[in-house]
Amino acid sequence: MFIRGRPITMYIPSNIQNYEDLKMETPSEKLELDWVYGYRGRDCRDNLVFLPTGEAMYFIACVIVLYHINNRSQRHYNKHTDCVRCLALHPDKVRVASGQTAGVDKDGKPLKNCVHIWDSTTLVTLQQIGLGTFQRGVGSVAFSFFDSGTFLCVIDDSNEHMMSVWDCNKGTKHAEVKSTNETVFAVGFDPENSTKIITCGKSHVYFWTLSSGQFTKKQGIFGKYKKPKFIQCFMFSLTGEVLTGDSEGNIIRWGKSPADVKTLGKGAKETFQIMRQTKAHEGSVFTLCKLQGGALLSGGGKDRKIIRWSADLAPERECEIPEKFGAVRTLADVDGEELLVGTTRNAILRGTFADGFMAIGHVNEMWGLATHPSQNIFLTCGHDRQVCLWNTEEHKLDWCISLEVTSQFFSAFLICVISLTGVWAVWMVLDLLTREVVSESIDGNEQLSVMRYSPDGSYLAVGSHDNFIYLYNVADNGRRYTRFGKCNGHSSFITHLDWSKDGKYIMSNSGDYEILYWDIAGGCKLLRNRFESKDREWASYTCVLGFHVIGVWLEGSDGTDINALCRSHSERVVAVADDFCKVHLFQYPCPKPKAPSHKYEGHGSHVTNVCFTHSDSHLLSIGGKDMCILQWKVMGGGTVDSKERLTSTSSTSSSSPEPTT
Ligand SMILES: *[C@@H]1O[C@H](CO)[C@@H](O)[C@H](O)[C@H]1NC(C)=O
Ligand SMILES: *[C@@H]1O[C@H](CO)[C@@H](O)[C@H](O)[C@H]1NC(C)=O
Repeated sequence: MFIRGRPITMYIPSNIQNYEDLKMETPSEKLELDWVYGYRGRDCRDNLVFLPTGEAMYFIACVIVLYHINNRSQRHYNKHTDCVRCLALHPDKVRVASGQTAGVDKDGKPLKNCVHIWDSTTLVTLQQIGLGTFQRGVGSVAFSFFDSGTFLCVIDDSNEHMMSVWDCNKGTKHAEVKSTNETVFAVGFDPENSTKIITCGKSHVYFWTLSSGQFTKKQGIFGKYKKPKFIQCFMFSLTGEVLTGDSEGNIIRWGKSPADVKTLGKGAKETFQIMRQTKAHEGSVFTLCKLQGGALLSGGGKDRKIIRWSADLAPERECEIPEKFGAVRTLADVDGEELLVGTTRNAILRGTFADGFMAIGHVNEMWGLATHPSQNIFLTCGHDRQVCLWNTEEHKLDWCISLEVTSQFFSAFLICVISLTGVWAVWMVLDLLTREVVSESIDGNEQLSVMRYSPDGSYLAVGSHDNFIYLYNVADNGRRYTRFGKCNGHSSFITHLDWSKDGKYIMSNSGDYEILYWDIAGGCKLLRNRFESKDREWASYTCVLGFHVIGVWLEGSDGTDINALCRSHSERVVAVADDFCKVHLFQYPCPKPKAPSHKYEGHGSHVTNVCFTHSDSHLLSIGGKDMCILQWKVMGGGTVDSKERLTSTSSTSSSSPEPTT
């Protein structure tokens, strides 16, 4: 195999005698999206809606999640091809419009973008509006109300924030205009008159009127009031007035100035002026939400408060959400009493003013992933210094703890090991039941990149950016660690490593695409004759370079487009996390170039890791920037195991003792 023009020698195992005739097929196993952990509250707005079906609708990565809050079940709309950025519910409360980032193809060319209109009861796509017209992405969408939702207004992510109005039944464009060079946060139709549209964003609130295909724009004038840096949100009161929320923490009620109304007859420009300013929050007002009967809610960006206001803006109730969830990004009314809260740290909370709020989902940035060897649980960790334990059966977060400077871990038993970022070279052992740190060690003085227990848990290997693999004896049920060796021979940082089934050998990959084999039992000796390791059986297969996974690489790869891979415990399939947002499923072994795979979309950024659960019932994948964990159900798959599959094209089959634990 060649990577970056550099040859990598691999040896064909002796049980494959006719390599040339081997045929690579897609596996009979398939993946089906089972659960989505996460919510994009960090940088998107207005993206949590309560549906009449009892579902909370929100998005993360490329998936729109419909989460039934009482049944705790999920459905998914997954027709978007890149990160979803905005959504709007039609006045019929069934149809949904959603917009996405345009995305780019393999050569970096922007793809054609559109707004999807779909049915939230059937998840069927009804319309694709404006294919190819929106630049970069769709930042905001809104349905009109007055004419039972005939029109759709879209603002794209181009520099000029092109605003367009569409007939959503016919899919035709009525009008468009460059709205502003400044950031736009929200758009909406006047519920009483679909020719009137409001947009707001950085230093502006605009009142638009659409007449015979032409927009006229009027600015909100702050006059003697301090002009806020951002106008983050707006809503229409029951009496038809516009209320805005801004970065000064004010709710402003807008009206047409009497002076301008007088001069209207002479064709003077109509402007909008402030009728009343109400101080609502410390810091920004991030969201406003209309309640039945004229009351409203506001959510604070800095003070994390939710305040309920009467129709004439007298405060009625307030509460504060816990600091760890961040600011109030958006609010949705469930039944007048119960509320859903989306937060800027990607949590969704549910609760009431009286009883407070509890998280129903929370995911932050992560890049460490490990499944438990015998239970339906997994761990994640990331730069937010949280180590979190999740339950794949109950689809829930069991706990998260903050360790001063955490990063990555792999688990065995009810113990996990964690390496630290910031304090390079430090790793810890955590007891999952008590959540206490039971051991702490230091290896070298550079970042640690990979850690793995031997199959019976008696050794731990720690791969470092200093090119060494450190070896430990593990005693006392995983609580005591004594270093006994150091593998010295790689000429670049360690990226992946796996143990042999007998726990005596290690196979490792490095940053300069080496594959090395080590005799651990014999004292961390580098095995210079790599041919002799060709028949060794591996307890896990996560090394991205190796004979058995040649076929997962694209032709002409620069060696960086596969971030991780993981063989199933059945040794029938190998899952691959690539740099192009995709999860692949290949047959295992996969030793011939250009092997076919099943490809799965859902992540909105490079997929950083994949891991099968202990029974292979599910695969977990995590995204780098999209802060999303996808749980895939492994469907199908016959009873033929990989050895029989090999025997069908070769005459011998090797048998070696199964691992003892
Ligand atoms: C918006 O930006 C474009 C290009 O940078 C510039 O030509 C135009 O004058 C700007 N428009 C406004 C209203 O600032
Ligand atoms: C909507 O507003 C426009 C412009 O002010 C006006 O001409 C029109 O009559 C209004 N339509 C309705 C239904 O009120």
